[in-house]
Amino acid sequence: MATRRKLKKQVYYVIGIVILIIALGIFGIVKYKEYKYQQTNEYKLLEHGYNDSEVARILEEFSDQEYIDYLLNNEKNSNIVSLLDEKYYLAKNFYSYVDYMNENSDLDLSSIIRNINIHLDKDFYEVAYDTDTSLDTAMLVNKYYLLSSDYAPDDLVTVPQTYSWGDAGSQQVREVAYTAFLDMWNAAEKEGYYLMINSSYRSYADQETVYNNYKNSSGERYADSIAARPGSSEHQTGLAIDVFSRTNTNRNTFTDSAEAIWLAENSYKFGFILRYPEDKVDITGYSYESWHFRYVGEDIATYIYENDITLEEYYAYFLED
Ligand code: DAL
Ligand code: ZN
Repeated sequence: MATRRKLKKQVYYVIGIVILIIALGIFGIVKYKEYKYQQTNEYKLLEHGYNDSEVARILEEFSDQEYIDYLLNNEKNSNIVSLLDEKYYLAKNFYSYVDYMNENSDLDLSSIIRNINIHLDKDFYEVAYDTDTSLDTAMLVNKYYLLSSDYAPDDLVTVPQTYSWGDAGSQQVREVAYTAFLDMWNAAEKEGYYLMINSSYRSYADQETVYNNYKNSSGERYADSIAARPGSSEHQTGLAIDVFSRTNTNRNTFTDSAEAIWLAENSYKFGFILRYPEDKVDITGYSYESWHFRYVGEDIATYIYENDITLEEYYAYFLED
């Protein structure tokens, strides 16, 4: 009887030990899982103050630990996460956006994205990149992207005097732009408008003359608002045309003419964009030019028109490496 009781006691003892081992095991697993979770980016970001949806967005965006570490090593800032959802956000510019945002707390997020994308954080002409001419009709020429002095298109055609002012042979454009212009001209004519090209291809040297004339007569500041410095004019591409009407070549009055309104609303259908709009002066760096149209092809022109952006913004987001 005593042996049986002893045996029973031993069994309880063993069961107790087993239960204890299992309990310890479960406790260990739970603690280990907890420890492992604390090592995750999700936990660290939540601890840093980001909420669930922000953390989800951060983890979705960044596969590179470097960016997560950057967020963890800097003060929590929900605007940084909001940047990721901006329409023209570019991952390669992340650090520049954040620095620029910290320096310009008055700017909204879309302006932060735009300004960094198109270099507006720097003064015009402060940096000079080579225009990527391999983009052909989509190439960007502006106050940051310049053509070399020897760049000249090799398919210029002469615009007949039916469509242009000046001496015979004085107006030239690239063939592709000329064909598109003729289509546009015909469409305009059907609606009673007679378009006339006033200026088109200008060599580097021609542009130098144009710019210097303005500079010498009215100073650099004024010259820069209406003329490009040599190398930075779209006219050197052979893809830009200054279009007026047969009855009006006056820059001031043309702006309110029916032809200018027609061009602004219809030119994109033929692959042209109004390059220096009234509400984009800060972006383009030029006063409103209701006559300056740039051929970029129908797809790009349509996107730019429909999304109300500039070629600068289009180029930065869709074309630049
Ligand atoms: N007027 C334009 C900006 C040019 O000079 O190219
Ligand atoms: Zn022009």
